[in-house]
Amino acid sequence: PTTPANPLANPGPNAPQPTVAVLGPVPFGFAEVPHGADDRMHVAPGYTAQVLLAWGDPLFPDAPAFDPLNQTAAAQARQLGTESDFLAWFPLPKGSKSAHHGLLCINHEGGVAELMFPGVLRDEAFDKLTAAQVAVEMSAQGHTIVELIREPDAQGSSHWKVVLDSPYQRRITGISPDMQITGPAAGHPRLRTAADPTGKVAPGGLNCCSGGVTPWGTLLIGEENINQYFTGDPSTTGTESRNHMRMAVGPDQKFPWHRVDARFDVNQAPHEPNRYGWVIEVDPYDPKSVPKRRTALGRYKHEGAACALDPDGRVAVYMGDDDEHEFIYKFVTAGRHDAAHPERSANLLDEGTLYVACFDADGVLRWLPLVFGQGPLTAKRGFYSQADVLIEARHAASLLGATPMDRSEDIEPHPGTGKVYAMLTKNKTRQPETCDAANPRPVNVWGHVIEMVPPLDASARRTHAATRFTWSIFLSGGDPQAEGDAKGVYHPLVSRDGWLQCPDNAAFDRAGRLWIATDGMSRQGLCNGLYAMHTEGTERALPRQFFRAPLGGEVAGPCFTPDDSTLFLSIQHPGQSNAFGKKVGHFADPTSRFPDHVPHLPPRAAVVAIYKAGAGPIGS
Ligand code: FEO
Ligand code: CA
Ligand code: CA
Ligand code: CA
Repeated sequence: PTTPANPLANPGPNAPQPTVAVLGPVPFGFAEVPHGADDRMHVAPGYTAQVLLAWGDPLFPDAPAFDPLNQTAAAQARQLGTESDFLAWFPLPKGSKSAHHGLLCINHEGGVAELMFPGVLRDEAFDKLTAAQVAVEMSAQGHTIVELIREPDAQGSSHWKVVLDSPYQRRITGISPDMQITGPAAGHPRLRTAADPTGKVAPGGLNCCSGGVTPWGTLLIGEENINQYFTGDPSTTGTESRNHMRMAVGPDQKFPWHRVDARFDVNQAPHEPNRYGWVIEVDPYDPKSVPKRRTALGRYKHEGAACALDPDGRVAVYMGDDDEHEFIYKFVTAGRHDAAHPERSANLLDEGTLYVACFDADGVLRWLPLVFGQGPLTAKRGFYSQADVLIEARHAASLLGATPMDRSEDIEPHPGTGKVYAMLTKNKTRQPETCDAANPRPVNVWGHVIEMVPPLDASARRTHAATRFTWSIFLSGGDPQAEGDAKGVYHPLVSRDGWLQCPDNAAFDRAGRLWIATDGMSRQGLCNGLYAMHTEGTERALPRQFFRAPLGGEVAGPCFTPDDSTLFLSIQHPGQSNAFGKKVGHFADPTSRFPDHVPHLPPRAAVVAIYKAGAGPIGS
């Protein structure tokens, strides 16, 4: 109980509307799911986990049924993509708070070839995949927008249904549609390629990881490991060498797309990777709208793009860069969002300041501006414009002295208290001599969560645009009964099933409770899960396990309907590994056949909808 209660819950008459109205403290009321490892998913008693859509499921009336032995790129472009990740809910009708009818937006992050294609073992894909299989991979990337409705069923309960003939339905793939490049880097020579000599267009979305929702009702998609698609020798790409090496473009990538399209060969098309690694903004309500790559937010391995309103109407977007020793960023718009005229915010993300986080040992967090011409960001260091600073945001941030983090995944602002929570998943190469106050554990294989606290204004509202916050470690992952660096740190009452490891995606519910999904419990021989906790009060940092994934699965994309009655979750790469994380599963012999559990079908990444028998908010 350290903060004024819900300072955003009662804004003054002229204050911008918070994106979420927050309830008071709501206690948890579910029995924990035990830690464990098997090929099924498990949810707290009294809840239903309905598999809504799995990889390959048809999204349109004319889409063919999933046929894993005869996949085609054309079919895949009309079916759910692979590796569902970030999820966002957009109610229908637009502007309503509907919790039973709306659009679910689903990111597709990568794909696992040995689970997708028969006869391809792990590490063989790069050399063995056929052109037709690569084309399937290309179509399986990107994003899905799908209309859902919750309907009563014969048992007197209700279930979710996909509206197949919806006019809103949309598939974005890895190679289409053409998206506009906007902001300070648009049209820059370093974005010009043979495919697009204007430098203002780039097709498709690559490695669509976590994202966010803007206060004006659009979707943000973070492009994460875009290096996995670009093959070649970065040291011979001339002036792009430093850039491509920092992004880990190299000779041995996961996706052999260069064999099918020279665009993905960096030695033939050295500017091509610069068109990717951005935050993409999409209007989910208009399936014909042209998605926009917002270059003002910088280029790196984006994870998450959660928005928070400053009391003055400026919008802060919190973003992680998920690589070892990379950074946490925040973009602050120059203009102000006016809730009465959301349409005026359409291009708000094109102008503003990108900051990078520096965590001082005294608990002060300084946001350092990445502005061309300031400090070291000049021609002397190879920066000739703001476009250069944004294209090589990582290098610019290093020169400014930003704090290298233990792999920043999702970052979420609390909708009531305004405090901001960063999931640091792990960092296997952190050394004792490079530990710092914000990343204190060498070989940090457990991860931790940092709480970042914006200052209060005169009306006790958090000022997300401020350049000086405070910070502290909210929890440290791992078993609380372990010794030394391995010891997890939580509320002392955490149960034997409640501790977590490798926090990844996160979300707040309407009651302001934090839900953390994990990707790395296997170090302890356990499956990943979803953990719920308070961030304030007498049970601060006391996690409880609500859901457990099947073997090999990673939990992603927690997303609540506006009344918390449904929780949507993504399960990525089920069946890929054993309980200890060894990647032994493949198409013919996976460690789980989730979600179908029938011998002739491979495991499929899927989206599940979780709701209470009867009705009521999740977790209470
Ligand atoms: Fe896409 Fe960092 O998980
Ligand atoms: Ca993630
Ligand atoms: Ca999130
Ligand atoms: Ca992950």
